[in-house]
Amino acid sequence: MARWRRDWESVMRHYQPGRDELLAAGLAAAEKAHGRRPERVLDVGGGPGTTAEAVLRRWPDAHITVLDVDPVLLALTATVLPHVRTVRADLGTAQWLAPAGGPYDVVLALMTVHYLPEDRVRDWYAEARQLLRPGGLLLVGDVMRDAPSTAPPLADTGVDPWTAWWTMLAGEPAMAPLLRERATALAGLVCAEFAAPVDWHRETAWRAGFSDVTVLHRRADHALMAFRRRWTADERQRARRGHRHLLRRPSLPRTTPSGRVGGSGGLRRCRP
Ligand SMILES: C[S@@+](CC[C@H](N)C(=O)[O-])C[C@H]1O[C@@H](n2cnc3c(N)ncnc32)[C@H](O)[C@@H]1O
Repeated sequence: MARWRRDWESVMRHYQPGRDELLAAGLAAAEKAHGRRPERVLDVGGGPGTTAEAVLRRWPDAHITVLDVDPVLLALTATVLPHVRTVRADLGTAQWLAPAGGPYDVVLALMTVHYLPEDRVRDWYAEARQLLRPGGLLLVGDVMRDAPSTAPPLADTGVDPWTAWWTMLAGEPAMAPLLRERATALAGLVCAEFAAPVDWHRETAWRAGFSDVTVLHRRADHALMAFRRRWTADERQRARRGHRHLLRRPSLPRTTPSGRVGGSGGLRRCRP
């Protein structure tokens, strides 16, 4: 298990340049936005829980939920992180909302939204908003191409790390039942390979009820954006009446300068 999850991180670093710095920037922003360590975190499309584990290293007392459609990846999460809640749900419709639970301080989606088609991503922002408490933070890290990529293509070494990882897993006889379950669960799911510029995400999230949009990290074609869930007038009024402390609103860190560094990014072939 440990080796598969370690190798998963190597694979993901290959496709998502600057991944560690990107996550660190997101978690630091969440601390700053809340003025304390967030307590409830949802990792959407959290895969084998390697991000959840990194979050727990920084926030050991956090309650984390990992939601994913893939039973194999969820099993890896559950085995290694038994205290993390795992939820199997498909983001393809709004039905993922009910099992996801909430409200959360932070909702995180790393390399996940590009699996969904544009219309679903639009709706997904509005749905993610429903899972956040007022003032909660949404962190989205994915391919966000502002212009046709000028970065050189990934070196063709003849090995696709994603396929190699799954082939390695399939070589383990104990995984056979889960892999069969996976084949059924993922039948009919198509990866949209959606990629939109930062401004598209900014506008879409604003329409969905978020404000204080910040680009926390950029590298090659990848960005991490933070969105704060806006308060409704009603929520603000209720908070004024009862809980003044809820109105305190620490600021988000300033946007980091954008830059094209290193090789090309992007999970070229996403295969849910
Ligand atoms: C490239 S992986 C990223 C995993 C994890 N966020 C990370 O960064 O290591 C994309 C994840 O999204 C999940 N996913 C893709 N389509 C999904 C869907 N329709 N519903 C739920 N999860 C989905 C996949 O199963 C996979 O775990």
